[in-house]
Parts: sequence; C-alpha cells; structure tokens
Amino acid sequence: MHSAPRLAFRHIGKRFPGVRALDDVGFSVRAGSVHGLLGENGAGKSTMMKILGGEYVPDDGEVAIDGQAVAFRGAADAIAAGVAVIHQELQYVPELSVMENLLLGRLPTRLGLVDRRRALAFVRERLDALGVDLDPRAKLKQLSIGQRQMVEIVKAILRDATILALDEPTSSLSHRETEVLFRLVRDLRAQGKAMIYISHRLDEIFALCDAATIFRDGRKVADFDTLQGVSRETLVQRMVGRDIGDIWGYRPREHGPVRLSVQGVTSRAVPLPASFQVRAGEIVGFFGLVGAGRSELMRAVYGADRRLSGEVSVDGKAVRPTHIRDAIRLGLVFCPEDRKEEGIIGVRSVSENINISARRNHLVAGLFVNDRVEARTADTYIERLRIRTPNRRQEIRLLSGGNQQKAVLSRWLAENDLRVLIVDEPTRGIDVGAKNEIYAVLYELAARGVAVVMISSELPEVLGVSDRVIAMSRGRIVAQFARGEASEERVLAAALPEGAAPSARQVTP
Ligand SMILES: Nc1ncnc2c1ncn2[C@@H]1O[C@H](COP(=O)(O)OP(=O)(O)OP(=O)(O)O)[C@@H](O)[C@H]1O
Ligand SMILES: [Mg+2]
Repeated sequence: MHSAPRLAFRHIGKRFPGVRALDDVGFSVRAGSVHGLLGENGAGKSTMMKILGGEYVPDDGEVAIDGQAVAFRGAADAIAAGVAVIHQELQYVPELSVMENLLLGRLPTRLGLVDRRRALAFVRERLDALGVDLDPRAKLKQLSIGQRQMVEIVKAILRDATILALDEPTSSLSHRETEVLFRLVRDLRAQGKAMIYISHRLDEIFALCDAATIFRDGRKVADFDTLQGVSRETLVQRMVGRDIGDIWGYRPREHGPVRLSVQGVTSRAVPLPASFQVRAGEIVGFFGLVGAGRSELMRAVYGADRRLSGEVSVDGKAVRPTHIRDAIRLGLVFCPEDRKEEGIIGVRSVSENINISARRNHLVAGLFVNDRVEARTADTYIERLRIRTPNRRQEIRLLSGGNQQKAVLSRWLAENDLRVLIVDEPTRGIDVGAKNEIYAVLYELAARGVAVVMISSELPEVLGVSDRVIAMSRGRIVAQFARGEASEERVLAAALPEGAAPSARQVTP
C-alpha cells in the first residue's frame, strides 16, 4: 500500500527581480525520515524553506501535507499546521530570555500575571529531558550563535511540530552542540516526524539522512530514495555539475623569510604566552575545537583585543598592541569568522562590499575612487568564486547566505598590499565547488609571498590546505606538525581536551 508522503512540494516556482530562484521543483518527504537538501550556494534551498515556513508565497505550484494542498499566507499558518522551520538566518529577540523565547505567546499565567517560577521550572525540566545545556534565564544576546540555534530547535520541539526543517543548523555549532543536535534529530525521526536537513557538510548528510534531493540553479537535478550505496563523489558531481577531482588542489610552494612573528602574546582571553611564526608563501592551519582560543589569539595578534604582553611583527616591523591601523598599514589583515555580523553592509551593493577595504588602494591622485577598477575587481571575484548574483549592483542582503559569505571574503582577498592574511573559518557555509576556488585563491596569495594563517574547525580542510598545522586547546598552542607529519589522528589527539572523543564532525568536507 502506498500512503501519501507527509510533505510534498509540487511544481514550485519562485522568481525575484533578475533571479529565478526556483523553477518547477518538486520532492517529497516521508514521515519518520530525515531528508537531505543539497545544492550549491544560491541553488534555492533556503527559498524553498521560506515557502514551507509561510514566509514566501510561491509563484507557481503548491505545498501538500498528507496529500492535501496547503496555502500558507504567513508564518503563523505554517506553525498552526505543525511546521517548524529553523532558518539559516536566525530571528530572535536579543533582550528576551531563553525561557521567554521558548514559551513566546504561551507563558503560563496566574491571576493574569505570567507565572515566571512555573514557567522556569517547566522549561528547565524540558531542557533537562532533552539533554540540552542552556540556562533558561540567560538573555539571547548573551548566548553564542550555536546556543541561539539550540533555542530555536528546542522551541520547535516544544511546539510539537510534526514537520521540521533545519537550514544549515550546524554551521556555528560547537563539537558538543552538534552531537546534541544529531541526537535530537534522531529522536525526532524515531517519533515519526518528517524532517528536512540542509547542510554543505556531506559527512552530516551521510550520518543523518535517509533520502536526499539535490538542487542546482533553482531546479531539481537528483532525488535519492536512499543514500545507501551512494558515494560522496556522486553527490558532489550532481551538485556542481562537474567533476571536482581533488578538492584541495594542494601543491608545495617555496617559503621565504619569516613575515609574521608572534612572540609571547597574551590577552585576557589568552592567558598563557603564545608564540609562532609564519614565512612568506606559507599557509599555516590553526586547528582546534570551537572555543580553543584560536580567534582570540588572532584578535590579540591583530590588535582587535588588547594585548597584555608579547611582540608581534610583520617583516621585522613591530605591530603595536591595540593599533589595528598599524596592522593594516603593515599589510596584516584579519578576516573574521562571523562575516555576516561583522562584515556585511546589507543595503550596499555586492561591488561595494567587495571593494570596501580594498578601496584605499584605488585612490586616483589620492582623491576619488576609480569606478572602473572597482567594477573589474568585483566582476573578477563574482566570476572566480561563482558568486550567484544578477549583477554586481545587487544589494548584498538579497544574496543567498553562502554567496554573501563569498562576497565579504573577496573583500580581503582583493586587498592589494597584503603581507599577512589571517582568515577565520573561510569556508563556513560555502559549497563544495566554491571551497575549492577559495583554496585556489589562498594558494595564489601564498605564491605571491603572502603569509597565510587559516583558522578552521574542519580537520580535513586544515590537513588538505596547510603547509604546517598548529593545534590549540583551551587557549594554548599545544602542538605543531609539518605537513608530512600531520594526520587526522595525531592532530585530533593533540587538540582534543582529555576525555573528549572524536565524532562524525571531523570527517571530510
Ligand atoms: N528576497 C530576494 N530577492 C532577490 N533575490 C533573492 C531573494 N531571496 C533569494 N534570492 C536569490 O534566490 C537565489 C536562491 O537563494 P537561496 O537563498 O534559496 O539559496 P541557497 O540554496 O539557500 O544558498 P546557500 O547555500 O548560499 O544558503 C539566489 O540567487 C538568491 O540571491
Ligand atoms: Mg541558504
């Protein structure tokens, strides 16, 4: 007997000015299954989830639940139908507590007043039962992005949603949070929920998903009823429409003299003195778990955090503590991890966002910006990193999540007198095909003599791209490995705090 799938998308179409985001796309999701949704940045995944969540009305086609067409006219309709979509860009009220967020609109009242004690006890009990470590009284603004994501997921569970969609839920989760999430997803599957799971990490797709659909340029290009026997290469090939071959594309390079020297640096977040050097042409990968202190160390190196002790120099010239301008003048550039929060100017164009820091290099007679140079820089990166946009004048906020990342990353890559580049999680949220291009840009910079520091929590990426690997744990540099000596086991063993076990998170991109 064939029963109707729990959830079906039928012939969905959605257009935006200059973009056909979805074109006649359909797939269905069974109850009690996790359905992977894959595709390059800008393929249309999030747009589909916004349609499911009632935020966009499709131009064509329909969504059906248990065989019945539903027409959501807003997010409230979707919630009422038992649908919970956890969006890639989280929406939350920073001033509210975890408890208030979880119970929004249904706080228990006594004599007309919210009974906080009862609400707190209820939330605490539910969080405990789910094995989620969150303080119900903490304000959302005090939480890490990963913790906020957890709040969203728990909210969906508390609403008893029967259809759940997770749009790149792990991109900011720590090791432990990812494990908790995986456990929750598996429990929900066992309870018969229908789930959609979006991720650029194929190891997660293989670990969690029963079936999968692949989008490319707003169309469906493949459906897999099962992932049993399906190879990673097949998925990648279908996603990008070409063979990527060796995703790392690493070639050995000559290394010159020391460019970046860090001696005994400490800061509030880095209590023990840290020292390392990077040569011209060298790519040094910093591996550690989320929270190992890698970003904090780099912030102190660059001058974004106050340095309490130690010396930093570029080509022998000292970078004074807390003088970011010194760092920039000496050609030391830091591309932060949270590019969305720190870097994007939403209403500006893609071109302006790419050119924003490179701008000072384009001063003509020291007076005005050369439009033609800017246009060329923007177009170069739009093409190289395959930034999916109708043109360079598009407002950056209208791009898909991964394409915004690429645009902001190009800003740093386009910097002219770069000597030292520190990139923090450069490929987070970026699709397999474009990762490959980002590595190629890093190699090119290194070949030009730039000293590159790459922070990454993806061990295969660190091993695949770096000439040398430095492992950090709990705010300290704990080990260094030459490329030939670095193996997954050795680097993990060094970087994991005692007792922690490796998990699926650390396998291939
Ligand atoms: N509101 C909008 N206005 C204009 N274009 C939009 C809008 N929303 C999405 N798009 C475009 O639609 C296309 C699909 O975007 P979508 O966000 O669905 O991609 P995605 O598959 O989720 O990508 P990513 O992996 O980067 O998150 C992109 O080209 C994007 O720029
Ligand atoms: Mg998306």
